[in-house]
Amino acid sequence: METQLTHGAAQQKYLEILRRVECPERDRHPLHKLYSYPAKFQASVPELIIEGFSGPGDIVLDPFGGGGTVSVSCRLMGRSSVHYDLSPLACLVTLAKTTFIEDREASFVKSEFSAAAELAGAFFPAAARNASLGALFDAEERHMMGSFVAEAAEGVWQLAQRLKDAGSSAAPLVACLLVRFLKLCGRRDAVERRDRPVRAHLEWFMSEYAKYAAATNAGGPPRTIHAVRCASNHQLELEDRTVALVVTSPPYSGVDIEYSEIQIQRRDIGRCYRSLAGVRVANLFFEGAPTKRGLCDGGVPGVRNYPENARRSLLEMQRVMIPGAFAFVYCGFKDDAGRDGYEKLLAGTGFELVDRIGVRLSADRGASSRSLHHGRDTNMMGRDWLFIARKV
Ligand SMILES: C[S@@+](CC[C@H](N)C(=O)[O-])C[C@H]1O[C@@H](n2cnc3c(N)ncnc32)[C@H](O)[C@@H]1O
Repeated sequence: METQLTHGAAQQKYLEILRRVECPERDRHPLHKLYSYPAKFQASVPELIIEGFSGPGDIVLDPFGGGGTVSVSCRLMGRSSVHYDLSPLACLVTLAKTTFIEDREASFVKSEFSAAAELAGAFFPAAARNASLGALFDAEERHMMGSFVAEAAEGVWQLAQRLKDAGSSAAPLVACLLVRFLKLCGRRDAVERRDRPVRAHLEWFMSEYAKYAAATNAGGPPRTIHAVRCASNHQLELEDRTVALVVTSPPYSGVDIEYSEIQIQRRDIGRCYRSLAGVRVANLFFEGAPTKRGLCDGGVPGVRNYPENARRSLLEMQRVMIPGAFAFVYCGFKDDAGRDGYEKLLAGTGFELVDRIGVRLSADRGASSRSLHHGRDTNMMGRDWLFIARKV
């Protein structure tokens, strides 16, 4: 496509973006590695876009924010960000990645973990347990995870709640590490991990916490603002014409992705259980229990219509953008008809399509779940596209 972007000052940056989309670099900053959210952007793609198409202090919006790659990139690059996602888990992950932890909080939590590890079995005093919090696991989850994992996880669940009640900036990180711990312990190959004693699990928390707490406060408190909203992007709490750039990756039409549930896979007993424990943890911070279909269809439950949901999201994006601002939308479709339909939606919601890039399939995916799997195309999607649109 011949476009304005292939000429003039923006050309160099634009060509770099094109190259990067096809060959993304692996994430390097630890904050991007805190939690592997499904269909996550490789940060090198949004970073280049943010650098080239926004300025210091600008507001960048990701209306399908997922695990917060755009927000973290903004934080690292001195832009403010607004993240929207329907999923409480996505919002918890983003909050954990973007919250600055004061030194005092960082050391307090470190000492809690090391004291708990010393006590091992008698983890966190019973007196500190909050009975009204309810259980983290149901009986089946407890059974599938085993008692060592359950005891460690339930202790950290109580700690996250206490920190949250005390207004500690460390609370989201502790909660996010708990979800990551559950995900790791649920894996098919986690037999040895599940059998570790409680103390070993707590030592894992201690070292992961130290690493990520240091990453969140490296460079001092951010001078930018990072809003995390657990709500549908069909109604954004933003004034008209305030957003300088949109970088986003909506769910792919017709593809089932497990955004919220954690699988507990027990090959030894031939069982797999889909657990909502991660959402329970996230509900300490954000309300909501969206369905898998609601998240994959891109909208509110009850509106099971991908194009209609997409149209509502685009209209809101358009409303809040500054005229002339760019939206980079990375999405995939099973066939050209799906892609053409999306382009019509862009045109019908007040965007000019400046360019679209078909993303070559490579071992390192740029954003989608679609990559070469052991060198083989799983053919899950027809093709990924990066749409570059401008608010008219
Ligand atoms: C492909 S993922 C985004 C991943 C993200 N780019 C990252 O780097 O982690 C799409 C996200 O859109 C969210 N979502 C779907 N419909 C939504 C809506 N109407 N409003 C807000 N978020 C929505 C899903 O919950 C999911 O987290």
